[in-house]
Amino acid sequence: PLLDPLPPLPAFHAALGLSIFAFIATVYLVPALGETFIKARLFGRDLLKTYDTPIPESLGLVCASIYILVLILFIPFAFSDVFVNDYENRSQHGLVVAEFPHQKLAVYLSSILSLLIATMLGFLDDVFDIRWRHKLPIPIIATIPLLLVYYAERGNTNVVVPIPLRWLFGTLINVGPLYYLYMSLLSTFSTNSINILAGINGSETSQALIIALSVILNDLLYLPWPFGVQIPVHLLGGHAEFKIGGPWGAGMAYGSREMVERHLFSLYFMLPLVGVCAGFLYHNWYPARAFPGDTLCYLAGMAFAVVGIQAHFSKTLLLFFLPQIFNFVLSCPQLFGLVPCPRHRVPRFDKETGLLYPSKAIFEKPPSALTTAILNVLSTLRLINLSKNPETGLPETTNLTILNVFLVNLGPMKEDSLVQVLISTQVTGSVLAFAVRYGLAWLLYDG
Ligand code: UD1
Ligand code: MG
Repeated sequence: PLLDPLPPLPAFHAALGLSIFAFIATVYLVPALGETFIKARLFGRDLLKTYDTPIPESLGLVCASIYILVLILFIPFAFSDVFVNDYENRSQHGLVVAEFPHQKLAVYLSSILSLLIATMLGFLDDVFDIRWRHKLPIPIIATIPLLLVYYAERGNTNVVVPIPLRWLFGTLINVGPLYYLYMSLLSTFSTNSINILAGINGSETSQALIIALSVILNDLLYLPWPFGVQIPVHLLGGHAEFKIGGPWGAGMAYGSREMVERHLFSLYFMLPLVGVCAGFLYHNWYPARAFPGDTLCYLAGMAFAVVGIQAHFSKTLLLFFLPQIFNFVLSCPQLFGLVPCPRHRVPRFDKETGLLYPSKAIFEKPPSALTTAILNVLSTLRLINLSKNPETGLPETTNLTILNVFLVNLGPMKEDSLVQVLISTQVTGSVLAFAVRYGLAWLLYDG
């Protein structure tokens, strides 16, 4: 069959137009609805300011509503080529030849279902402060429809073994059900890891925005651009040819039309997310006039899990979460109760200087030998500052978060500087992710 040189344009234009609409709607609706949220007692105090004004919280619900609505409006456009073909077939032959792609519809519907569950969970968490043990499994259950679609598509469950280990395991290992377990855990990781890297103005929203932009950039590499580029990669003695673009299925390194379709799907889901996040960041930027709440964190996290699973690039996706992985691993001693975990681990605000300082976790009883060992290692790595409480003689540590790591190493700073450090780290992480994915991968994998 003849291959089109470009993605179906009506769908692409619709996605772009609806994303701009999502951006404008968010910019306009967030301040317009702020009062209503305060009336419904959905507000929080900005912990790092001198003033006490209630700031409307959970405005992520507005973002989620706009996002999901826009995606639903988009569905017919995603099938625009079917309608056109149908129409042509009818007028030429008087009958319908083309089969409707039910599989593709299942991909869209299951994705929206997962996003709805994530929004509901996030909003309930904002209203009721759900306990960890209750909220961790919910995203996992929310991915079941996605996993079934993955199964129906005969999705890959093979893991490519890095060259140095092949003598032991062979080239491919089929991990089967474990791969499904991994994909469902991905959703609970992506939702919660954004939520625990939070507490300073703009942090949650900018993380979501940068990850979404990184995913978009990655998707663009797979599209059938009318021109093709070949980039020879020479890295650490390795050599490979990396091709971008070219007509459907022909010029690309990874080739199939299926792959192009999947990355288009991811693009269609990420563009409106960028729209709502960019619109919301305008109000959430220091000094914040609206808080995202857990709703935005869960929505964005689930959107990433959805595209990672449905477009089959979950491992590349994880590379865009480097700061979140770091923050999560570092947080583990507090999340699993080895080190006391206060309700808020955000940096400490000093009213006199207007600067942020690392916040502390204070031990009430002597830590175990294991905890002491962990803390000593972290302190040697300059990830925490350890001290002794002058009154009780018990140890104190700075809270185990990436934000505190910045403050420990770079010294106290203003809130907007700290969010800029976080943004720079996220961007650097993405640059590193691309280097690893398309540069170093050639060292470990041959293709
Ligand atoms: C997570 C973190 C917690 C952090 C909190 C901040 C873990 C295990 N939990 O909890 O340490 O303190 O996020 O969001 O790491 N707020 C601000 N400025 C902001 C954003 C939020 O002061 O820019 C404050 C407001 O008072 C707001 C509250 O944080 O009401 C929201 O906290 P919430 O999202 O409910 O906390 P968690 O997600 O449970
Ligand atoms: Mg939160």
